[in-house]
Amino acid sequence: MDSVPKKRKSVSRRAFIQSVSGGAVGAGVVSRLLGKEPRPRPTGPGELEVFEKKRISFTVNGRKVILDAEPRETLLQVLRERLRLTGAKRVCNRGECGGCTVLLNGRTVYACHLLAVQADGADVLTVEGLASGDKLHPVQQAFIDKDGYQCGFCTPGFLLASVGLLAKNKQPTFDEIRAGLAGNICRCGNYQKIYAAVGAAAEVLRRG
Ligand code: FES
Ligand code: FES
Repeated sequence: MDSVPKKRKSVSRRAFIQSVSGGAVGAGVVSRLLGKEPRPRPTGPGELEVFEKKRISFTVNGRKVILDAEPRETLLQVLRERLRLTGAKRVCNRGECGGCTVLLNGRTVYACHLLAVQADGADVLTVEGLASGDKLHPVQQAFIDKDGYQCGFCTPGFLLASVGLLAKNKQPTFDEIRAGLAGNICRCGNYQKIYAAVGAAAEVLRRG
């Protein structure tokens, strides 16, 4: 008597691998195999929501912000795209140029290289928060007085890096200014005037 092939209830190995390699469909099969249905995403047919959002809160330029951030979102994305604070620039987006420099709890950081969730509970200062009303910060004023910019694209990053530097070192030498700003690139090559501006700002800040 011919044996009747048994019907297989489980997903075959081949079907499993084909499904998994099928991206979103594969993820759906995996979820079913694990006994979990994928959570539907309201937009984007055929897509699955991959990242859970995390509620975070931090202070930006003295104002408290509460938002739901994806774990993959950088602080720079949140500042520019969600809070519309576009002073910090997205240039290299990989921690090389300093265009996105902000202060986090007084420390100079690349906002493109920091996840937004890492800023949870922190105090963030961007170039938009440097001036007090109509009164420019002494570093801003010194950049104007000493022509510390040409196209100005790198300027917000240099301003924040300079403020961070002068908070740590109130009387930097020329070499210390150069070393302190080494993480920022000016494509216009305006370095000498930038260093002069930082030296002038240091003097103003020391006088109080
Ligand atoms: S944009 Fe962040 S370091 Fe270049
Ligand atoms: S002033 Fe143009 S990049 Fe620095």
